Amino acid sequence: MDRHLSRRGFFGSLAAAGAGAALVTGSGLIRGGGTAARAAQETPVAGVAGATPDTGTGPFMLVPLPYDNAALEPHIEARTMRIHHNRHHATYVKNLNAAVQDAPDLAAMSPEDLIRNLGAVPEDTRGVIRNNAGGHVNHTMFWEIMGPDGGAPAGDLLAAIDADLGGVAPMTEAVTKAGLGRFGSGWAWVVVGADGKLAVTSTPNQDNPLMSDLVDVPGAPILGVDVWEHAYYLQYQNKRADYLAAWFNVVNWAAVEARLTAARG
Ligand SMILES: [Fe+2]
Repeated sequence: MDRHLSRRGFFGSLAAAGAGAALVTGSGLIRGGGTAARAAQETPVAGVAGATPDTGTGPFMLVPLPYDNAALEPHIEARTMRIHHNRHHATYVKNLNAAVQDAPDLAAMSPEDLIRNLGAVPEDTRGVIRNNAGGHVNHTMFWEIMGPDGGAPAGDLLAAIDADLGGVAPMTEAVTKAGLGRFGSGWAWVVVGADGKLAVTSTPNQDNPLMSDLVDVPGAPILGVDVWEHAYYLQYQNKRADYLAAWFNVVNWAAVEARLTAARG
């Protein structure tokens, strides 16, 4: 995804997303059905010659990374990026496609709408959709908000961080604390709450702050860091703190600001 695309509205694009037609949304999701969608799924991932992630057959698709696998080195090495995207994220997409195979009403929904409305999902598939639509949404955002030239928070984002979280250093510290405090697997987040203010929180597994009935701090996520071991173990082993410290060097703050703008939109 190029910078222009990443800056397009997240929720605005979701609202415009219709079922059936393949399209790229501001969140980087590609949805759609039919031959075009399947062809796009078979497109090799940039920087991985011959590698074709297995996402099964269905409406949900894995978007190629918007940068080369090695673009975030030395902070996140290419091997971790390749396995994380091509295998872990691809598996969430594959499992999600399988879960909606016989449920056209669910297949027509965006992944975000699925996790916002888990109560409407039949009980026998609710768990698998919670985990795999959550994993799909979380990782799509994760790739979008990273990049090799992240810079620093600016503009409205910096103003919000200063006003609501006490500044960039306290925000970084709070996200790091949330990530370190998450026992087992999960995510640490900066969200925009219903009051329009930023808050820091964490969720277990592949839960997302959009799952408003299930999480401690609901909201629209504008930043999220994956603290599953698959995100860092090859390079950092058990040193989650080292990974988190390195991760803040590869945040694409312009993409985070675009998500803030869209969430407040
Ligand atoms: Fe992950």
